[in-house]
Amino acid sequence: MLNMESIHKVYDTGKVQVHALTDVCFHVAEGEFVAIIGPSGSGKSTLMNLIGCLDTPTSGIYHLDGQDVSTMTDSQLAVVRNFKIGFVFQSFHLLPKLSALENVELPLVYRGLGREERKRRAVEALTQVGLGDRVRHKPVELSGGQQQRAAIARALAGDPPLLLADEPTGNLDSASGKEVLRILQDLNDKGRTIVLITHDQSVADRAGRVVRIEDGRMYEEGSR
Ligand SMILES: Nc1ncnc2c1ncn2[C@@H]1O[C@H](COP(=O)(O)OP(=O)(O)OP(=O)(O)O)[C@@H](O)[C@H]1O
Ligand SMILES: [Mg+2]
Repeated sequence: MLNMESIHKVYDTGKVQVHALTDVCFHVAEGEFVAIIGPSGSGKSTLMNLIGCLDTPTSGIYHLDGQDVSTMTDSQLAVVRNFKIGFVFQSFHLLPKLSALENVELPLVYRGLGREERKRRAVEALTQVGLGDRVRHKPVELSGGQQQRAAIARALAGDPPLLLADEPTGNLDSASGKEVLRILQDLNDKGRTIVLITHDQSVADRAGRVVRIEDGRMYEEGSR
């Protein structure tokens, strides 16, 4: 599903070159739930940006769902992001003026789906995360955990092959965090492929497999 081979990412700031990722090989099979854990500055966000097709590697090969995305242009990558990846961020990124339903519908607008089909999919996704009775609520009228669940519904509505979550419980109290992890686990049980990035071992432990990143190098958990 996701295949990274010998990925290098070098940031050239003029004076110094930062080797943010060095020879990273990362493979995720369809239906897996993989956590990437590592300390601050280890390269997690850099890797997340590459996996999420928000940036391209300096060298190396990246295939996502059968497509070579390592050499795509920005506009090609935008299409891949819209169809192949559902994003869940630490700080939800819901639009405050839109209802939960409208937030979830938004990415579907760019797919050219009709109004009825968008609404049907959005209600279905919100129901799946337990927010079927909150579809008209604005983000401020939802708890933090409910906002993150709405964000998960938005990520799911387009039925992407990959769900990419960056510290999805980072801004939540422990009860809401557990609820969000339970939903991710449930989605994975139903076959959704999930890659979750965290610095929290207890969160990583919920995944089926954990890989560690340190100083831009990747290690399978237990293989060090
Ligand atoms: N745009 C950039 N230009 C130059 N160097 C960068 C850039 N982005 C990140 N870096 C450097 O690359 C390395 C990895 O950074 P990255 O943001 O991926 O770490 P991280 O694991 O996400 O850390 P944190 O847990 O603090 O978010 C760091 O040394 C950082 O200073
Ligand atoms: Mg980061």
